[in-house]
Amino acid sequence: MDGATEDWLAANRRKWDDRVGIHAASRFYDVDGWLRTRPGPRPREVDALGDVRGLDLVHLQCHFGLDTLAWADAGARVTGLDFSSEAVRVAEELAQQAGLDDRVRFVCSDVHAATEALGHVTFDIVYVSLGALCWLPSVERWADQAAALVRPGGRLYLHDVHPLAWALSNESTELEHSYFEEVDPFVDDSDVTYADADRPLRHTRSYEWNHSIGEVVTALIHRGLRIDVLEEHDWTVHQAFPWLIESEPGRWSAPPGHPRLPLTFTVVATQVG
Ligand SMILES: C[S@@+](CC[C@H](N)C(=O)[O-])C[C@H]1O[C@@H](n2cnc3c(N)ncnc32)[C@H](O)[C@@H]1O
Repeated sequence: MDGATEDWLAANRRKWDDRVGIHAASRFYDVDGWLRTRPGPRPREVDALGDVRGLDLVHLQCHFGLDTLAWADAGARVTGLDFSSEAVRVAEELAQQAGLDDRVRFVCSDVHAATEALGHVTFDIVYVSLGALCWLPSVERWADQAAALVRPGGRLYLHDVHPLAWALSNESTELEHSYFEEVDPFVDDSDVTYADADRPLRHTRSYEWNHSIGEVVTALIHRGLRIDVLEEHDWTVHQAFPWLIESEPGRWSAPPGHPRLPLTFTVVATQVG
């Protein structure tokens, strides 16, 4: 990795470290509610991945681990990986509060070094949830790691922001960014975070990259993965744009009469290589 990319990722890590405390205290993540209700994985994820009892699952870019712990509640042997030491610290605390600390492991590492950080073991499921790929400069380098972690017959599950939505301006439905991956990042200087707009961040600069659907899927196919599902969704999980409406609890879409747009997408792929 060149020096500029290392600097960009270091800035992202500082901003993510800042976000963790704000997110863990936010209504958006509702940690107390989660601990009280222990909802488990989302029904659509269970539909896609089935019974995970006894399976080895790794959650890449796991943030402070709520989605990771949900899979432990469903019976998987779970590892979460994130490059934010703050995120890993809070995830470990939450695992303890949830009584899951003997069944989950959190590892602090850049995802670009995931295979080494995880001791070159492989998993039945490599799970990646919303808001992951935009932080990574090269989908090929991400796919090197993600595909190598899936054992033969194992699956990769990815739900992320759709690159068309990522390319739109925050304020309107006009295109502001390239739909395709570019070398130079988009520089974001916003001082607030999606989970709580009232608490300012100390480290405000971050760097992001878009990756087209074709680039993501082709990178996986070239590493021996068979694409079983590629679904584009007309919804996301928060008001990512001011013109979105909450079409059902927890789902935000374009309002009636507005052209439908893909806002997130899901890939399920099996390692056959
Ligand atoms: C939007 S969050 C993921 C949120 C998660 N889906 C959730 O809802 O909890 C993105 C995560 O990616 C992590 N991240 C960003 N770049 C990374 C990198 N290069 N290596 C490892 N983790 C990274 C951040 O620390 C952050 O926790």
